[in-house]
Amino acid sequence: LGSKQSATVVVVGLDGSGKTTILNQLKPGSVPSYEVAPTVGLSVEEFETDSIKFQAFDMSGESRSRALWDRQYASADAIIFVLDSGDRMRLAVAKDELDHMLEQPAVAERPVPLLVFANKMDLRGAMEPVECMAGLGLQGITTKPWHIQASDARSGTGLEEGMRWLTAHCE
Ligand code: GTP
Ligand code: MG
Repeated sequence: LGSKQSATVVVVGLDGSGKTTILNQLKPGSVPSYEVAPTVGLSVEEFETDSIKFQAFDMSGESRSRALWDRQYASADAIIFVLDSGDRMRLAVAKDELDHMLEQPAVAERPVPLLVFANKMDLRGAMEPVECMAGLGLQGITTKPWHIQASDARSGTGLEEGMRWLTAHCE
């Protein structure tokens, strides 16, 4: 009674997409800041929703650190993929990384829920969620539940909605 279920979530996405900013918003008592340092390696964070206590692995998105992502998937109960929806130039790179993730045995062989944040929706010219969905080829994912949620991590818009979906799929 009163004890919440725990879940481990691995948070990945290209450098600068907003992973740490999202987690800072979700973490209790942290003051939102525009000045976030790039994550080095990985950082472990904790936050909770109504029914679940999450342990989050906030991974560095820098190209030379992306190999570290693969090692975390085995412990993942859920995955959050953060896309900078203002970055059309690197949409194909983001898709390559997502595809690589989906090929990892720990991801491919389990129905791990996948939440995609189409982040930076506040930027002028940002891609709409449908465009992000198509660009990432999300419709092709048939073996696990997935959901795309537009977000603005700086204001916090969309984060709660996304986490509501994830919480429901981790229960
Ligand atoms: P790495 O740790 O390097 O992989 O990056 P990250 O994905 O953790 O990105 P981070 O949270 O450090 O954010 C990078 C920059 O984008 C920061 O200057 C943030 O303030 C900014 N940013 C994050 N989310 C948003 C958003 O929704 N809108 C806008 N306009 N800026 C954002
Ligand atoms: Mg970071």
